Amino acid sequence: MISGTISRISGPVIIAREMNGSKMYDVVKVGNEALRGEIIRLEGNNAVIQVYEDTTGLTLGEKVENTETPLSVELGPGLLASIYDGVQRPLPVLLEKCGNFIERGISAPGLDRQKKWEFSASVKKGDTVFEGDVIGIVREFHFEHRILVPHKISGIVTSIKTGLFTVEEIICIIDDKVRLSMMQVWPVRIPRPIQKKLDPILPLITGQRVFDCIFPVTKGGTAMIPGGFGTGKTVSEQTLAKWSDTQIVVYIGCGERGNEMTDVLAEFPELIDPRTNLPLIERTILIANTSNMPVAAREASIYTGITIAEYFRDMGYDVALMADSTSRWGEALREVSGRLEEMPGEEGYPAYLATRLSAFYERAGRVVCVGAGERTGSVTVVGAVSPPGGDFSEPITQNTLRVVGTFWALDTNLAYRRHFPSVNWIKSYSLYLDSIGDWYVEHVAKDWRELREKTMYLLQKEVELQEIVQLVGPDALPESEKAILEVTRMIREDFLQQSAYSDTDSFCPMEKQYLMLKVIMSYYAQVNEVMNRGISLKQIQSLPLKTNIGRMKDIQDLESLRKMIDDVSQELGALEVEK
Ligand SMILES: Nc1ncnc2c1ncn2[C@@H]1O[C@H](COP(=O)(O)OP(=O)(O)OP(=O)(O)O)[C@@H](O)[C@H]1O
Ligand SMILES: [Mg+2]
Repeated sequence: MISGTISRISGPVIIAREMNGSKMYDVVKVGNEALRGEIIRLEGNNAVIQVYEDTTGLTLGEKVENTETPLSVELGPGLLASIYDGVQRPLPVLLEKCGNFIERGISAPGLDRQKKWEFSASVKKGDTVFEGDVIGIVREFHFEHRILVPHKISGIVTSIKTGLFTVEEIICIIDDKVRLSMMQVWPVRIPRPIQKKLDPILPLITGQRVFDCIFPVTKGGTAMIPGGFGTGKTVSEQTLAKWSDTQIVVYIGCGERGNEMTDVLAEFPELIDPRTNLPLIERTILIANTSNMPVAAREASIYTGITIAEYFRDMGYDVALMADSTSRWGEALREVSGRLEEMPGEEGYPAYLATRLSAFYERAGRVVCVGAGERTGSVTVVGAVSPPGGDFSEPITQNTLRVVGTFWALDTNLAYRRHFPSVNWIKSYSLYLDSIGDWYVEHVAKDWRELREKTMYLLQKEVELQEIVQLVGPDALPESEKAILEVTRMIREDFLQQSAYSDTDSFCPMEKQYLMLKVIMSYYAQVNEVMNRGISLKQIQSLPLKTNIGRMKDIQDLESLRKMIDDVSQELGALEVEK
């Protein structure tokens, strides 16, 4: 066993000497209390270690033991509905062991060792299996947890069982020698292998109009939510975690205030998935590393999260990963790098910040999974970014911007005006519009893209018109342009705004989103037509239509929305020029 002694301590970073034989990223036990840490640099016989627990009270000369395994997560039945810290220690178990204040050196396995799961085999003795093949399933809540042949293993099944087992008991033997249980262990810093990446042609449906209709992200795509203080990053991430149409959600609370995570912990067990009517928590894994928890574990938390996400992807499922906030992860990286006395890059972040960020987002994707049966799965990554002072020119925002496909820029002014989600429609963008076009034509409507383009055109036009209004007042605008301002007000208030707390509107089905936009755009087209006949804007505004459009959000019956499209043309068409 490799073991050395502590020769230097600097916050979460320590140096141990006589560590020859150690490898990068080996997990070590530090000091008399066996605090968990990870080797992040080797210099001669010295190992530089980031420690995942509070290092207060450690003294020079205490021993350091190398476990000679990389930082890994346990993968298998029992992950769903779990709440972990950044290095996959189950928080409820820690709380039970030591009350509200987590003691140092406490360890608890990621997967429950006692619990028995009903495993039903789907292969039989004599079958040949390869890496990634499904050998059986376990029902975890209503979820079909597929048990796969681990990486680099193949051969003939010489024994296979069905029945109740713990995650460690042997359920399958290959070639009379390789003994498999339901649990796999995977090093978090290494992406799990795939067969091939697929094009991002399926949208992630979130039930949020500004996301789905205006700036969509795909299954397997990447999105970022940058925004200043209180602009709605956390609410957006939570809304996405609730309503996205994936089978699995991994939610990482990374370095944010404890009360934000408490909200999630309190709310999730109560929520029901509108698509399946099952509790949302049953498809969710929560990773909590709040601001008061050790900084190095925060650095690890996003890797722990994405490895769990990849594991479910490999079974052939769609997974969404939310990270709130990647800025706090970047700050952890900066703090550790500072302690290492590395050459600082921009704003003190290490020079490898960009590489680390892109390597993380690169783990997203829609893929053909390893194993038989051409299973496809996806990991979608949505990272919140908290730029100090809401200034998007800072390094984390800029480096993330280069690697993600969808940019949801949250806007302090909009949030201040209580326009939520405060997604700025001029600054935001989605690079996936072309690739998902076919899906929308097939599943929503032929004219979706056209409606979206018109909406964007009008919103951009509004910016120009408002500049004029500010210079010379609203009366200077011709009636047709005043009509545009009337319609863009509708787009903003009656379409883009969507309260996360509304019983009727927090989730908006795709078809309803389309119909709502269609009503507003039909209104615009008709208004133009009747104005050409000499009808005044005042006459148009006196119709009850405007109020009805304002009530669309709360209408659940899609038939009445369809009828509204006709009502718009009839009511406007019936107007006569006032003498
Ligand atoms: N979609 C929404 N619907 C209704 N209200 C919202 C929405 N998004 C944000 N809000 C309001 O804005 C407040 C702040 O949102 P949130 O906590 O998500 O901001 P944040 O960007 O995460 O802030 P911080 O920088 O402090 O982490 C919420 O408490 C809520 O009142
Ligand atoms: Mg927040």
